[in-house]
Amino acid sequence: MNSDFRARTSLQFSGFRLDLSNQCLWRLSPTLSATRIDLPPKTFAVLRHLVEHPHRLMSSEALLEAVWPGVHVQPEVLKGHVAAIRRALGDSAERPRYVETHRGRGYRFIASVDAFAAGGHSGFFARRAERFVGRAPELGALLAAHQRAQAGTRQIVFITGEAGIGKTALVDEFLARASHGDARVLGGGCVEGYGGTEPYYPVLDALGRLCGGAGGKEVSEALVSIAPTWAVLMPAHVPAGIRVSLLAQTIGTGRKRMMREICDLLEALAIERPLLFVLDDLHWADYSTIDMLCAIARLKGSLRLMLVAIYRSEDAASVQHPVMKLSHMLSLRGSCQVIALAPLKPDSIGTWLAHGASLHPLDEELAHLVAERCGGNPLFMQAILDDLHEQALVDKTPDGWHQTATAAQLRRALPRTIAQVIETRIQRLTPEAQRALEAASVAGGGGGGGGGGVGVSVSDDRRSGRDDGRGVRRSV
Ligand SMILES: Nc1ncnc2c1ncn2[C@@H]1O[C@H](COP(=O)(O)OP(=O)(O)OP(=O)(O)O)[C@@H](O)[C@H]1O
Ligand SMILES: [Mg+2]
Repeated sequence: MNSDFRARTSLQFSGFRLDLSNQCLWRLSPTLSATRIDLPPKTFAVLRHLVEHPHRLMSSEALLEAVWPGVHVQPEVLKGHVAAIRRALGDSAERPRYVETHRGRGYRFIASVDAFAAGGHSGFFARRAERFVGRAPELGALLAAHQRAQAGTRQIVFITGEAGIGKTALVDEFLARASHGDARVLGGGCVEGYGGTEPYYPVLDALGRLCGGAGGKEVSEALVSIAPTWAVLMPAHVPAGIRVSLLAQTIGTGRKRMMREICDLLEALAIERPLLFVLDDLHWADYSTIDMLCAIARLKGSLRLMLVAIYRSEDAASVQHPVMKLSHMLSLRGSCQVIALAPLKPDSIGTWLAHGASLHPLDEELAHLVAERCGGNPLFMQAILDDLHEQALVDKTPDGWHQTATAAQLRRALPRTIAQVIETRIQRLTPEAQRALEAASVAGGGGGGGGGGVGVSVSDDRRSGRDDGRGVRRSV
């Protein structure tokens, strides 16, 4: 979300999105609807220049030069454009939320700004699902929790389910919708094998992304002043001049202080703007991170924070990971929601195959077979379609997937389970590629969480005969 300003097609700030492609402003509401506001071209250009330089005092001369290059324009002209901008934003000169006037000096855009890249498909954690389908109740529950968090009631939501069921895709979809308000996203994830040994790995990942994004400077400043024990762990985001003194100041401090500081930092960030704190793949998390989640769960009072914790249920259960125990405990106390993702419904699979349109009657057999074989797992669903495509039995068109073979041929060619998809794909690799894959999966076999290897590996369930198409584990 905090992508580079140079790659952006729109800039978002509290309650509004400046659409650079369509040269207009959108007023956003928490219900996710947006109202278009058309501004005269020069008013739009003044606003754009201010938004592109947030928190910087922009002199009238600099603004005039940017908007009317090479033309002599009286500075008074700007006043009319700024007044029009204020009317559009519902802002006031006396108590500004967006544009501050510095008499005789210029203007400053004071709201925090996020940049969005083209296409709208880049999710926070992954590339957003090309066509996200189903999951309406889960999205509804997340958006409702987000609204409660915005109103000051802290929310904790765990999202669980098997590998590839769509946990990350769901959260990316939710973040894309929820970020239409002024919430700030603090998101990070664990890495297999590594995260388990590195204390607070996903939290540092999240803080690093936030500090490195648009508006990151103010977060870095808050980090240094409120959470110095965390700041020393992130030297890239701390000005060189204060690193040594920070180190001296924090030497010998323990876990308790770190815990207190991270809670203070989250509270401070959530005062300014609602905070969405998302941690992915927590079945690989170090135990300090889980302690931190406990500390957040104990925070009292009004707090505009929503914590979303994602983990694979099977992987967490197989090692009795404390994230699972925490979610059970908080759920028993009624202090959190647990969203356990079920398989995608056949009609959602049909919608996905038909690219959102209703399914062509001839392709109903295809939809039925895919739904049956993938067991509702979207990762498997994609793998099956890719496999059929490689065999030239289906065609991908702008109107969706279509079968090019008879139902009987499809049935014969369709792999019985996803494990067969993988095995067939491996068989089609060159001998060198097969050897490399084998070596890599041996090398990766000792990693935490039990899912070593490259790409996809078949779990013990399948080896032990539970060949139901679900016994597949994906590795990072
Ligand atoms: N509801 C959906 N609609 C369309 N595509 C989806 C949906 N859910 C997931 N996908 C796609 O399925 C694939 C797997 O989803 P995702 O990575 O979110 O699974 P996951 O549960 O997070 O898996 P893991 O446990 O390995 O992290 C992705 O390519 C994603 O885009
Ligand atoms: Mg995931």
